[in-house]
Amino acid sequence: MRAFLSSICIFSALIVTGLCLICDHCVNLHGHSCETMSSPCKEEEMCVTMLENSTVGNDKRLSVFKGCEKYDPRIPEGIILYSGGPVFFIGYTEYCKEDNCNSGTVTVPAINMTENGLKCPACYIKGSYECTEVGDIKCIGNQEQCVEYSGELRLPGAPFEKYEYKGCVTTGACDFAPSVLRGLSFLKKLKFTCM
Ligand SMILES: *[C@@H]1O[C@H](CO)[C@@H](O)[C@H](O)[C@H]1NC(C)=O
Ligand SMILES: *[C@@H]1O[C@H](CO)[C@@H](O)[C@H](O)[C@H]1NC(C)=O
Repeated sequence: MRAFLSSICIFSALIVTGLCLICDHCVNLHGHSCETMSSPCKEEEMCVTMLENSTVGNDKRLSVFKGCEKYDPRIPEGIILYSGGPVFFIGYTEYCKEDNCNSGTVTVPAINMTENGLKCPACYIKGSYECTEVGDIKCIGNQEQCVEYSGELRLPGAPFEKYEYKGCVTTGACDFAPSVLRGLSFLKKLKFTCM
């Protein structure tokens, strides 16, 4: 199906220019740079670079995905931010709309660390579905909801494990994060609420 759609795009590009973009594609689960291959998108897709930076204590993981995606306007300034306990997670998405415009190096813009007045219970455990709260955390920037997640997920480049997290998150992240994030991936959601 994908090959079929791609060939439609290549064909129609000869007649009507600008119908389908050509974008760089690559994935790296162990860093923010990757070697790309250029190939066409489907109709209505844009070129994208998605960077993830996940910190759990001393465990720091960077990952990158480049390719074609439909524009998702739900992420404020492209930034998804989660924090709670020892965890600080940044997901940054940058779209562009010219052939191979996502070929260059993208860096995560400065994170707005200003407290916004919201406080959430903080909690983190790996290997279990139930963590013990360690007090409240002060939310920053666009984190206008408290989140609670328990289930199985995988940090970029790591195996799936049981986790429970509570903390501050970008508004609406419960809805869009699972479909937007590429390095962090959710296998099972027992609880995933943003309030
Ligand atoms: C990843 O996030 C950590 C914690 O905020 C920060 O110290 C580090 O500079 C970030 N790394 C990159 C490559 O953005
Ligand atoms: C940073 O976050 C604070 C708190 O949400 C907000 O009031 C401020 O406008 C933000 N600053 C920028 C530059 O977005």
